[in-house]
Amino acid sequence: MGCLPGFCSLSRRVKFLLFIGICVIFLTWISSLGSLGEIRDATQLVKELSLTRKVQHMGLFRANNVQSVEPLAVTTAVPLQSCPLQSPYLRGPIALSFRPSLTLHDVETENPEVSNGIYQPKECCPLQSVAILIPHRNREKHLLYLLQNLHPFLQRQQLHYGIYVIHQAGHVTFNRAKLLNVGYLEALKDFAWDCFIFHDVDLVPENDYNLYQCDRQPKHLVVGRNATGYRLRYKGYFGGVTAMTREQFLKVNGFSNTYWGWGAEDDDLRIRVELQRMKIVRPPPEVARYTMIFHTRDKGNEVNKDRMRLLNRTPRVWKTDGLNSCSYKKLYVEKQQLYVNVTVDIGRPSLWHN
Ligand SMILES: *[C@@H]1O[C@H](CO)[C@@H](O)[C@H](O)[C@H]1NC(C)=O
Ligand SMILES: *[C@@H]1O[C@H](CO)[C@@H](O)[C@H](O)[C@H]1NC(C)=O
Repeated sequence: MGCLPGFCSLSRRVKFLLFIGICVIFLTWISSLGSLGEIRDATQLVKELSLTRKVQHMGLFRANNVQSVEPLAVTTAVPLQSCPLQSPYLRGPIALSFRPSLTLHDVETENPEVSNGIYQPKECCPLQSVAILIPHRNREKHLLYLLQNLHPFLQRQQLHYGIYVIHQAGHVTFNRAKLLNVGYLEALKDFAWDCFIFHDVDLVPENDYNLYQCDRQPKHLVVGRNATGYRLRYKGYFGGVTAMTREQFLKVNGFSNTYWGWGAEDDDLRIRVELQRMKIVRPPPEVARYTMIFHTRDKGNEVNKDRMRLLNRTPRVWKTDGLNSCSYKKLYVEKQQLYVNVTVDIGRPSLWHN
């Protein structure tokens, strides 16, 4: 019996504890009702926020998309898949055509999807945007043959590309390298091209596995041409057709502006590339093949007798002779269907700063 008061006192303590416990549970329940509501509100808020963000993101995407493709008049808002690393349209060695009766109108009709010199594939999002720069004077027929062969070639490679013809006005000695500097600077006013192809007007590619895209290193695309039995002209040759990214070309300060007449401006560019510790890469010889359209040396593009002296000074002057010192007068920009014609006055050889 001695245990009864103990029980009673225990029971009172338990009652008290039970009462406290019930109070705590009751209060917790009451407060949980409120916070549940808050939690529900928070979930709703998160949902709404992420929805807004999604909408904003879509808006952003659409805005970007329109901004970047607006000049090409593409209005699709659906993000396209990337083009494959290797286009399914490549054919390998192609039969080239040089029909004497060919006209510009024929080539325009053959390329209805090109406008203002620009093409963009519809089926996928191209891996690179490439500007083809062609220095030019008095070679209308060669240009026509090149355009006829190059447009379908580039379209089979699924590239977004633009072709710029840089036309040297007047009769002063030709300056290929300076025209290419002008082409680079002018093309970038149209679009932020990733890659630049510096292209002679008389070289037509024979195999579409020779990709007109840039690499991690500057790329030389002409290993062989029919005129030299398809062998590299000499070790270190870096002329004819070359591909450099926007950044690679900027890094070497572009071409020298001081090579008037034929020769060595391409060797000068190789020296610049080597000074930056970049390495020239080339596609396999069976792919990097060109047909050189026959011509005699042009009047106004005589061999540059000063070229060896100029090459010797390249390591000393490259930083101040190039893109950053390229002065010219832009005379006309004509947007033709198949190319943009940039006509420039690039001045004349100077006796003083050579
Ligand atoms: C290379 O091919 C072109 C086009 O067929 C031709 O005009 C030129 O004479 C050829 N050159 C040589 C050296 O065979
Ligand atoms: C480029 O435009 C200039 C100036 O109008 C013209 O003289 C030249 O023939 C044009 N060149 C080409 C290849 O269209």
